[in-house]
Amino acid sequence: MNADGRTRLNQRPEWTALAKHREELADTHLRDLFAAHPERGEAYTLRVGDLYVDYSKNLVTDETLRLLRELAAATDVSGLRDAMFRGERINVTENRAVLHTALRAPRDAVIEVDGENVVPGVHAVLDRMSDFANRVRSGEWTGHTGKRIRNVVNVGIGGSDLGPAMAYEALRAYTDRGLTVRFVSNVDGADLHEATRDLDAAETLFIVASKTFTTIETVTNATSARNWLLGELKAGPEAVAKHFVALSTNAEKVAEFGIDTVNMFEFWDWVGGRYSYDSAIGLSLMIAIGPERFGEMLEGFRLVDEHFRTAPAEANVPLLLGLLGIWYGNFHDAQSHAVLPYSHYLSKFTAYLQQLDMESNGKSVQRDGEPVGWQTGPVVWGTPGTNGQHAYYQLIHQGTKLIPADFIGFAEPVAELSGELKAQHDLLMANFFAQTQALAFGKTPEEVREEGVAEDLVPHKTFRGNHPTTTILARELTPSVLGQLVALYEHKVFVQGAVWNIDSFDQWGVELGKVLAKRIEPALTEGTEVPGLDASTKTLTSKYRELRGR
Ligand code: F6P
Repeated sequence: MNADGRTRLNQRPEWTALAKHREELADTHLRDLFAAHPERGEAYTLRVGDLYVDYSKNLVTDETLRLLRELAAATDVSGLRDAMFRGERINVTENRAVLHTALRAPRDAVIEVDGENVVPGVHAVLDRMSDFANRVRSGEWTGHTGKRIRNVVNVGIGGSDLGPAMAYEALRAYTDRGLTVRFVSNVDGADLHEATRDLDAAETLFIVASKTFTTIETVTNATSARNWLLGELKAGPEAVAKHFVALSTNAEKVAEFGIDTVNMFEFWDWVGGRYSYDSAIGLSLMIAIGPERFGEMLEGFRLVDEHFRTAPAEANVPLLLGLLGIWYGNFHDAQSHAVLPYSHYLSKFTAYLQQLDMESNGKSVQRDGEPVGWQTGPVVWGTPGTNGQHAYYQLIHQGTKLIPADFIGFAEPVAELSGELKAQHDLLMANFFAQTQALAFGKTPEEVREEGVAEDLVPHKTFRGNHPTTTILARELTPSVLGQLVALYEHKVFVQGAVWNIDSFDQWGVELGKVLAKRIEPALTEGTEVPGLDASTKTLTSKYRELRGR
């Protein structure tokens, strides 16, 4: 029992039942499951919006799914979900509501935080963003010298970078190709240098994106960007207003930095950084794809929100994906989860999910502060297919680890592709289908022998199979489909956090490094003695100074 009277997760009968069930299934191979149920490939599928989800190649039976749903019911996942949608302060350690779903609520919805409907505010900002985006796109908004804006540089990090950067890449085919859009996040000066070195400052708009506006990397890069701009334009601070806008919750800090709050697009403390790219943080994306496409993306998010909120447990896709992750992480000792998009445009999707999932569920205490006694968030990793096939898939196929994977693919290549580049899509997708088949069913020693393989090579050429995968297939990667995919993973992460009884919406784990970096910096620049520095860091910092000739 926890201090708050809640039964510990691993003492619940539903947990014990799953552990027992896992043992009973220990010798069952996916080959057996498909042989026993020839319709499995159709039966174990679900739909949400434009996404067709095949979970048949998972190590589950009807009984597994029933037991997992019972665990979700016992841990009141739906209760926490409803509290989130209602705007209750479910981020307990920061005493905040969690309302990224309000960012895509329709104009007439009513969602209250402390008795105030937040939806009109959301739409007021979306309207301002649309107006601004249109003015930049049409050339009406000009820089200090009167030239139209042709370059947009988003300066932000973490949730203020990964979301728009990922979505810009994903929706490149929908972007205004006349605009150059770049994302600067790293405090390594090389990032800003490379992003600006070939740009005409007179045509460049910087979007400084920071929820808190105190993040050292962003404030440092934004200051350097301002100095670069003023230096290039040989202008005074009056030029800033035409070349800098801010996206933030912190008007005071924005003004302190020197950006007029007239040029600030706000959002609110009930939007977590990693859940924020459909807020003002998406301004760079909106400029690139236009407000209409941005709106379509929001509709995609909304569609999955509604599904998550209302679909019955048996048909609820985010619930299913969350529970499958729990099945592997808690009952099969899987340490990681691969997300493998077979779309070049989704090249940053997994990196985006890393923050979404790992910053949310990388926790080891429960909501009441008691330690967990079970595994929580997995290591999320992956790169687009087919590149991964020629790099690390070997380990997934024949290594010793169980690595559940999501395969994401599309029936149509983007409309821009034509001729032989379009034709390549079938080859891409043949790989997509082949991989999940090989992972699930493998190749038995008998099959290898039938090919005439020498006996000493048989063990090497045998594929055990039984590697679980989920396939997510859609017709085409549109703005709406991207919104659907992101919302799907947001809610998947939510489900897991709810079952594990952790706060998925704080991120205290990133604080210590920030504090220490601030303390160490003077040791590097000035050689100042930092009190309490450990022997290793002390030696390393003086070695650094020596190498820099200081
Ligand atoms: O890494 C910690 C973190 O607070 C993230 O959660 C956040 O997305 C990122 O830093 C950037 O924060 P901000 O938008 O306040 O600059």
